[in-house]
Amino acid sequence: MIRRLLLLTLVLLLLAACRPISAEPGSRAAGAPGLGDPNFAFLGNGGYDVEHYTLDLAVDVQENVITGTTTIRATATQPLSSFNLDLLGLTVDSISVDSMPAGFSRRAHELTISPQEQLSAGDMFTTLVSYSGTPQPLTDPDLAFIAQGWNNQDGTIFVVSEPGGAMTWYPSNNHPLDKASYTMRVTVDAPNVVAANGVLVETIADSDQVTYVWEMAQPMATYLATLAIGDFVRVEGPGPDGTLIRHYFPRDMAESLTAAFANTGEMVDFYSDLIGPYPFDEYGVVVMPFPLGFALETQTLSVFGTDMTMEGVNAHELAHQWFGNDVSPAAWNETWLNEGFASYLQKLWSEEELGSELLDDGMRQYYEAMRQMEIPAPGNVAEGDMFSMAVYERGAWVLHALRLEIGDDLFRQVLRTYYDRFKGSNATTADFIAVASEVSGRDLTDFLSGWIYSAEMPAIPE
Ligand code: TRP
Ligand code: ZN
Repeated sequence: MIRRLLLLTLVLLLLAACRPISAEPGSRAAGAPGLGDPNFAFLGNGGYDVEHYTLDLAVDVQENVITGTTTIRATATQPLSSFNLDLLGLTVDSISVDSMPAGFSRRAHELTISPQEQLSAGDMFTTLVSYSGTPQPLTDPDLAFIAQGWNNQDGTIFVVSEPGGAMTWYPSNNHPLDKASYTMRVTVDAPNVVAANGVLVETIADSDQVTYVWEMAQPMATYLATLAIGDFVRVEGPGPDGTLIRHYFPRDMAESLTAAFANTGEMVDFYSDLIGPYPFDEYGVVVMPFPLGFALETQTLSVFGTDMTMEGVNAHELAHQWFGNDVSPAAWNETWLNEGFASYLQKLWSEEELGSELLDDGMRQYYEAMRQMEIPAPGNVAEGDMFSMAVYERGAWVLHALRLEIGDDLFRQVLRTYYDRFKGSNATTADFIAVASEVSGRDLTDFLSGWIYSAEMPAIPE
């Protein structure tokens, strides 16, 4: 699906390339329809930087229809006679830029907006997109296990977008390079409950309708925005260091799930000590009343299926809040920076209980298995390997190998420094290698490149 969309948008890009972008007054300047991501050239858009999204949505849960407005506050980074947002499906009713009606056209997931007046570099501008319809999740043959974006299963709604699904339910600059804060105001029929990212700041009841207002104050990548609507109960747990733990569980499973997730606060403490303070105000999980075959680290509120409620998966999604969410990948061919880190940190949590020897034994078993299976290198993965053993287990081995090579203390310091330097922003593999070299006081480029880019895994450090 994405392939075909990309072909269509390729034509758009070629057309746009024929029109020179110039800063001269009065010239026409189109924002680029993509950011040139190695796996998804047309996710995201050029020419502006989003600061804040406000999603005002009324959701008819039974009909699976949404009606609403997304307000986007952004700054132009070049003169713009037009710019693009990413939105797939749905019906756009009207668009305004700085309160004036704006023209727009659509092709595949590219929504091209032409303000009445050209924007100048540095202008802060506000775009309102009013839209409605039934969101259709995005399926990609290379990532066949996921229906990305908005899902409605038997009247329970959940959103799991990684990597491209955000555009199935709101218009955005759909790439982790452009992170922004969010306000979500979602209106549903009672007794539905709405859980979303950040902090629930208000619940407004109006006859049989309820509006839930959620604030996500820290920057968030588009794929991490989520919404869950259904018959959930909110369960609050002990919050370490002022971090409130709040989970959302299906009403009839609340008791067993409260027990299953009871040590989440301890995990937050563990990772905070290891890496740096938990980056957001609150944390918790939302569990669907059915199996999903996966969990996703949606910011401050990870989504789980009933089949994923194990302690190891909880540790994994929580670790992503630091690596993936606060430090986000700069490109989709570097998902090992998310998955390798979360997988290894999940093992560090269990190392507390099981001991270092078992961790090392387990790693060596994976090493042998991956050698036999000829698992490809974790760095620079193609679309089909973005969430494969290459990034999870070979990705985790990059960190284990580094730890064996430089020792526990320096390894820990590399983790902390890399996190501290890139939190709230994006990082690349090169950034990680640079930090490892700097902190250890030796050039680790060749050592790490072997583990990250060589088809064959290097020998395990003595
Ligand atoms: N990042 C998820 C994890 O923790 C895996 C994943 C990738 C995913 N894309 C997804 C899960 C889409 C749900 C939906 O490993
Ligand atoms: Zn993960």
